[in-house]
Order: sequence, then structure tokens, then C-alpha cells
Amino acid sequence: MNYQVVIVAAGQGTRMGAEMNKVLLTLHGIPVIIYTLRVFEQDPDCTGVVLVIKESERKTFCELIRRYHINKVTELAEGGRERQESVYNGLAKLGDSQETIVMVHDGARPFVTRNQIARVAEAADRCGAALLAVRVKDTIKQVACHSVSKTLERESLWAAQTPQAFRMSVIMQAHREGRVRHFKVTDDASLVEQLGQTVEVVEGSYRNIKLTTPEDMIIAEKFVQEEEKADAN
Ligand code: CTP
Ligand code: MG
Repeated sequence: MNYQVVIVAAGQGTRMGAEMNKVLLTLHGIPVIIYTLRVFEQDPDCTGVVLVIKESERKTFCELIRRYHINKVTELAEGGRERQESVYNGLAKLGDSQETIVMVHDGARPFVTRNQIARVAEAADRCGAALLAVRVKDTIKQVACHSVSKTLERESLWAAQTPQAFRMSVIMQAHREGRVRHFKVTDDASLVEQLGQTVEVVEGSYRNIKLTTPEDMIIAEKFVQEEEKADAN
């Protein structure tokens, strides 16, 4: 299933506390964003990548794309204050062929696999919208002022990941409505949900982590080590 992808990389990385954009941090000497871009670069189903970046980091990203021979980035889009705005700016760079499949992916999720991408693309083609997710491992409490207001039933809880995949018409309408109605969301599927449309859940992997806090970098180093070992064998 062919698709285009918007990869968002215009965040601040505040929770990482590295005083720089976390997607530019390195794992075994290679920037996180390059691992992410390589997955799509090597996927024959991916027809183009829109990379969303901060204007102040344009030069850095351009140099990396050149140095690591990434050829599928067709456009760079300017990031917004919130992730949602960054995605919107990226989507605006895509052509408007309504039936094609568009993915949205976090630049900070370098361990996504082609198999996961293919499964979420197929689900979106069937249903209009789909996301990768994993069952939560912990018991989740709703908390207000440091006291529990509710314990959620774990059986029905999943943690959303990216990529999230959509028919172009669906995601464009969802983002436009979201802007008009001032919805504030942390993922794109929730904009589709707010329109009352179905979003299919595709079971992903616990390895598809989003590098968010410093501990995640330690785990990520291990994953890269493992992959290098596997490649050498
Ligand atoms: N992102 C973006 N534009 C924003 C905010 C986030 O493109 N205004 C991107 C990030 O670069 C990241 C992805 O969205 O790849 C997921 O967001 P998150 O993990 O929240 O990253 P940051 O916003 O960079 O981190 P933090 O929230 O800790 O500042
Ligand atoms: Mg953020």
C-alpha cells in the first residue's frame, strides 16, 4: 500500500532536558531523526516524506539529509508552536489527491518497522483512519491535586503510538475542523475521533518507543546495539 508520510521533528524536547531538540541527539553517533528517516527511505511503499522542522534548525536538518543520503524528503515544512500545528503545516505540503494514504509519524520514534507501517496503512485504506497502539502495562489512575479521582479499567486501555494513517480526505477534514473548533489534541487520530469517525487500532510493539525522557535514550542505545548485532550475523 503506497503512502506519503509527514514526520514531525519541530519540538523542543523539554522533557528530555538535553537543551537541544531531542531528535538531533545521537545513538551510536547517528542522530535519532536519521534512524527514523531511514525506515521510510528503505520502504518501497513510501512515495515521499514531508519533514517538519523549526526554521532555526533548517540548515542542520538539510546538512544531515545530505550527509546521510536521504532522498525521499520532498519538502521541508515549518513547525508550529504545538505538535498539532506542525502536523497541519506538513499536511499542507501534500498534494490533494483525496484517496491516497497519508501517515503522520513522530521524528522521535526511530524504532518503527516496515511491517507495522504496512499494517497501519492497510487498516487506514479499509477504514479511513488507523493507529498503532499497545496495551498499557501499568494500572492507570486519573489524578487531581495528587489524589486519585478514578482508577481506569486496564483491560480497555491502549497507549497510542505513531504512525497514524489516514485517507487524505479524512485527515484534512479532521485537522481543518479541529482548527475551527479549537480542539487541542496530542495525536491526530483524536481529531478524527472528534468527528465521530471510526479509527481502527492496530496492535504495535513495545519497542516502538517515543524518546521522551533521558531513560528512553538508554533503552534506545540498547535497541540500536541489538540491531547492529543482528545485522552483523
Ligand atoms: N513536535 C513538533 N512540533 C511541536 C511539538 C512536537 O514537530 N510543536 C514533534 C517532536 O519533534 C516529536 C513529536 O512531535 O518528534 C512528538 O512530540 P513530543 O514527544 O512531545 O516532543 P517534544 O515536543 O519535542 O518534547 P517535549 O514535549 O518534552 O518538549
Ligand atoms: Mg511535546
